[in-house]
Amino acid sequence: MIYWYRALRVAAALMLVAGAADAQELTEANLKAADPISGEQTWQQYCAFCHTLRQGEADISGPNLYELFKRKIGTHPGFNYSNALKNADRDWTPDFFAEYVQNPGTVLPGNSMPAVDIPADRVLPLVAYVMRASGSVDWDEPRAETLATGGLDAELRASSPDFWAQHMEHTVKFTIPRDNGETYSLVVYFNEDGTITGNNRGLQGIWRMRDKRNFCYSLERVGVHPYEWMYCMQPKADENFGFGKVIKSFAPVKGKEEFQIQVSFLEGRPHPLEGDAHPDYWTFLFNNTTRYEIKVAGETVVIDARFNPDKSITSPQGAAGSWYTEGDAGREDRMCYSMAGVPGVEGELSECFALVLMFNPRVGARWPARFEQGNSYWAEIIAGR
Ligand code: HEC
Repeated sequence: MIYWYRALRVAAALMLVAGAADAQELTEANLKAADPISGEQTWQQYCAFCHTLRQGEADISGPNLYELFKRKIGTHPGFNYSNALKNADRDWTPDFFAEYVQNPGTVLPGNSMPAVDIPADRVLPLVAYVMRASGSVDWDEPRAETLATGGLDAELRASSPDFWAQHMEHTVKFTIPRDNGETYSLVVYFNEDGTITGNNRGLQGIWRMRDKRNFCYSLERVGVHPYEWMYCMQPKADENFGFGKVIKSFAPVKGKEEFQIQVSFLEGRPHPLEGDAHPDYWTFLFNNTTRYEIKVAGETVVIDARFNPDKSITSPQGAAGSWYTEGDAGREDRMCYSMAGVPGVEGELSECFALVLMFNPRVGARWPARFEQGNSYWAEIIAGR
């Protein structure tokens, strides 16, 4: 009993601390106390696409960051840095790291890492996470989150059968507003054992009856602000229940009533690749075009790739291929693809990446990367087909 309650309290407390200004200063005390889950999530979401952290891991398009805070800027052996980093001649400190990560081009002009738009309240946990995970400090393990299990028993189920059926047999979809006017959706499954899972990688949650009348749940590691929230309600079936429509909305952050998360239900528990369970990602991918500008022998070759629902890839330029996902059934977390027929390239170009990176796709997104065969490219999302 105590454990779940504490976990919920922790989640609620985290939401409150997130805004306090002096808690964001990069002092050792603040860094040690920073929320490890928030830090890891930020890393996964914004950095892991291009960097590894642990000893001996390979460079991706950015260098491996092992022991970053014990060394000078631009000195990971074997990585081909820009002159800006190569010649910087100074040590990494938490403050300089925070500045660089938020504004790489301003802080080290001529640097080749693109700007990544991290929410301000995520910087401190990110710095702390990178310091720990890169082996730069040997602080105690961060606080362990306690997510006890419990669950649905016969008595509870009998008390409000419709409510429980809705939550335990179907899928709950949350739609969260974003600063840019767009929305982010994720789907979760309330499970009978008291856990909540979802196909947003890393998401954790629990639900409990706080007392006979209050059903409470806490979600952590949500991909976007507010990142975690706790919510309580009476376990009663909603009167206007129906699949695919907004049933209700609520404000997860105290004092910010205008910030409303919408709740709707999807029928059953579809596989992530069916039924648009990652509503934004797949619809978006199948309806837009990924334009690749691929370096081939010093020239740039443009391919407008269309990822299709039947797992093929086609393009007006004639290049074609296929894609697949990897990971446990229903919780796939990697996507791989290969394309043949790129002018000037013998054989295929292929690549795998973490699916979590693509959960908030948008037209105009542009990023550099490299195929396994060594060809570097820029990709950009173009509206439509
Ligand atoms: C699109 C790829 C990409 C993403 C995303 C990215 N980086 Fe980088 N990063 C690079 C590249 C490329 C460099 C090398 C820059 C240069 O040489 O000018 C770099 C360099 C760095 C360095 C300097 C390393 C050293 O050895 O001195 C740090 C620190 C760093 N990145 C941290 C981060 C963090 C933290 C994030 C996430 C918030 C992030 N990067 C996201 C590509 C990326």
